[in-house]
Amino acid sequence: MPSPNVQREDHIRHLFDTLARYSAGFPRKQPRFPSRNQGPGDVILVTGTTGGLGCNILSQLCLDPRVKRIYALNRASIAEGLTERQSKALKKRGVLEDCLGDPKYQLVEACLSEPLLGINAQLYTEICNRITHIIHNAWPVNLWKPFDKFEDSLQGVRNLIDLALVRKYPAMSAPEESLSDSLGVGYAEANTGAEMSP
Ligand SMILES: NC(=O)c1ccc[n+]([C@@H]2O[C@H](COP(=O)([O-])OP(=O)(O)OC[C@H]3O[C@@H](n4cnc5c(N)ncnc54)[C@H](OP(=O)(O)O)[C@@H]3O)[C@@H](O)[C@H]2O)c1
Repeated sequence: MPSPNVQREDHIRHLFDTLARYSAGFPRKQPRFPSRNQGPGDVILVTGTTGGLGCNILSQLCLDPRVKRIYALNRASIAEGLTERQSKALKKRGVLEDCLGDPKYQLVEACLSEPLLGINAQLYTEICNRITHIIHNAWPVNLWKPFDKFEDSLQGVRNLIDLALVRKYPAMSAPEESLSDSLGVGYAEANTGAEMSP
């Protein structure tokens, strides 16, 4: 049995190898932030709006006059349609009145880890051509899952970055810079790793 130190080093190597796999082949681009004064308004792609934070993000975006369009991408559920699920989630979070049925947002069933985010090519192209910002909020909030079970989520981040790179303003903002505080908790390793990898 390898010593704890060797196991730790093997695990760190595995983390970085995995992150390198999901970061491979990024085209080189000069990042630039769009000026909010230049365009006719922000067009936002936001993920995970059925969750706690997502409901509040959606509500704030609906209230923000600078935002003219919102694509709210969420995974499908066998049990319930997305419109119903989003309404219930907004109601549960007490932000129903702020945005329920606001024509500014469009709910989109998506699978972020699939090519074209699992949505039809026409809508994917429309989103690609129009968005000015991506807020990637969807994530399995599960502290017990090991790192390897987050690979779909890492693929989802990669697919969103690829979408962002098609746009002319591929600037990134991610708060995490080091994996060292996350080691041992799969959720934190994957979450922090995804933010570091670009
Ligand atoms: N909660 C915290 O203490 C905390 C702290 C720091 C950062 N965060 C981050 O804040 C964000 C939102 O967290 P939250 O507290 O609002 O969590 P939440 O209420 O559990 O919402 C998570 C959202 O992500 C979606 N989601 C979960 N697993 C998914 C998967 N495998 N594929 C696609 N979508 C998935 C959920 O969709 P369904 O409705 O279909 O399940 C839901 O819309 C996450 O990125 C999380 O890492 C949370």
